[in-house]
Amino acid sequence: MLLNFPMAFVFILFLLACLILNSESISRADFPEGFTFGTASSAYQFEGAVNEGNKGVSIWDTFIRQPGRILDFSDANMAVDQYHRFKVNGTGEVNPQGIEYYNSLIDALLEKGIIPYVTLYHWDLPQMLEDRYEGWLSNRIVEDFKQYAFTCFEAFGDRVKHWITFNEPHGMAMQGYDLGIQAPGRCSILGHVVCKAGKSSVEPYIVAHNVLIVTRETSRYNCTDERQGGQIGIALDAKWYEPLSDSQEDKDAASRAIDFGLGWFLDPLLLGNYPLSMQKLVDDRLPEIRPAVSRLLVGSVDFVGINHYTTLYARNDRTHIRKLILQDASSDTAVIATSSRHGLPIGERAASRWLHIVPWGIRKLAQYVKERYGNPPVIITENGMDDLNRPYIALKNALQDNKRINYHRDYLSNLSAAISIDEKLNQCRQDNCDVRGYFIWSLLDNWEWNSGYTVRFGLYFVDYKNNLTRIPKSSVKWFRSVLRSESYLSYQL
Ligand SMILES: *[C@@H]1O[C@H](CO)[C@@H](O)[C@H](O)[C@H]1NC(C)=O
Ligand SMILES: *[C@@H]1O[C@H](CO)[C@@H](O)[C@H](O)[C@H]1NC(C)=O
Ligand SMILES: *[C@@H]1O[C@H](CO)[C@@H](O)[C@H](O)[C@H]1NC(C)=O
Ligand SMILES: *[C@@H]1O[C@H](CO)[C@@H](O)[C@H](O)[C@H]1NC(C)=O
Repeated sequence: MLLNFPMAFVFILFLLACLILNSESISRADFPEGFTFGTASSAYQFEGAVNEGNKGVSIWDTFIRQPGRILDFSDANMAVDQYHRFKVNGTGEVNPQGIEYYNSLIDALLEKGIIPYVTLYHWDLPQMLEDRYEGWLSNRIVEDFKQYAFTCFEAFGDRVKHWITFNEPHGMAMQGYDLGIQAPGRCSILGHVVCKAGKSSVEPYIVAHNVLIVTRETSRYNCTDERQGGQIGIALDAKWYEPLSDSQEDKDAASRAIDFGLGWFLDPLLLGNYPLSMQKLVDDRLPEIRPAVSRLLVGSVDFVGINHYTTLYARNDRTHIRKLILQDASSDTAVIATSSRHGLPIGERAASRWLHIVPWGIRKLAQYVKERYGNPPVIITENGMDDLNRPYIALKNALQDNKRINYHRDYLSNLSAAISIDEKLNQCRQDNCDVRGYFIWSLLDNWEWNSGYTVRFGLYFVDYKNNLTRIPKSSVKWFRSVLRSESYLSYQL
């Protein structure tokens, strides 16, 4: 479209206004004292060393050997080689045994003044347990997991004071046991054409139930061991869902979508039972939580970790056609989630199709957790966005990740608004949510599950063609300046 002169002028003024608004900055002083900033990573996506240090086979090692599972046909056998390289400047040999690897990783972090928050389970279940009793589908997992957790507490508990039992159980249950697109790849969608085995309408609920029991058992042990005495949490993947319209049915749909996402785990752990909407819609496929178990579940976590990336619109699925066709857990919600309204996207997209940039969503989510659950301590355990891995882009351009900087700046400023730190400073900041930390996904570019190496989430660029060299992107400089700033004078693009 051609713009005549005054319109162009107005347009330029508008652009300028946007630029000025956009340069609003964020600094450490926007967050309360003791707030923890960090970056996140995971064993399978980072470590590599697939056949070293007596490492056993995990369900992901098996899963990625199936054809067509990973977009770029890659594997994580080397990943970004963290197993060998976490000591950037280190001296001496790293002992190849598992415990010693983590011992030295933890010590190296502490030496640098970095507080480790350790996740016990980030999806790579030993294949042996899958073979022996179908892993998370069996309650035999509870004893084995307890044993594993105790081993970690005993070995590392003198130095690790923050534990996360489980990463994204909702994601694991749905991708692994409903849609079958992640390990162990079970589903019954379209008969057993897609997956060899599974039952999509039932298994996700069993798996999730076992995760809850495991979390409870893990934290019961903590109480008895004084030497350890760490804080225990769980990291839940949670989108925010905004009703597509003002109609009551869409508002109810949004609320159901949140129940089936966050509420699935947080209701049992903080309120003692599954959300009513789930009890009603899933009915006898939902495992029962008896009163005695309910009492034990409540209080099994000290903090709630939330992995939050994006927000979607939700509308009521009146037809229930999806449910007829899919007969799976995902259609139990009777919600259709979309990323646009009247043709307008909810936010700009990152590289991944599912990731729309919607910074206001994090504030609404924080407010929701405060209101529904009585303001428990929350840590944003993951938040981030990805760029495409473009093999032919000049390094200089790949390092200039302004989109990532803007993403974190806007999510952080909305998070800061949700926390309310200084009433004098800004009267609007009265949300008062008890959010205590914010970790960026991710420290390094890494192996992104089904997307393989095709997308980059890191603050540091990993040069896959040059011996996995790590190079700081612009966002590293930005994050550093946010963390160092003590005043409101801070980094401008
Ligand atoms: C540590 O490694 C980084 C990156 O390789 C390098 O820039 C820095 O000089 C090293 N520091 C020391 C103390 O060796
Ligand atoms: C674990 O133990 C520590 C220290 O006694 C305590 O602060 C924390 O609340 C306990 N966590 C749970 C979930 O019981
Ligand atoms: C919140 O996010 C929006 C974009 O969604 C952004 O315009 C705004 O500056 C952010 N900060 C606050 C405090 O709302
Ligand atoms: C690749 O990097 C590792 C870790 O920094 C180093 O030990 C190794 O010598 C490098 N290999 C080559 C071929 O440069």
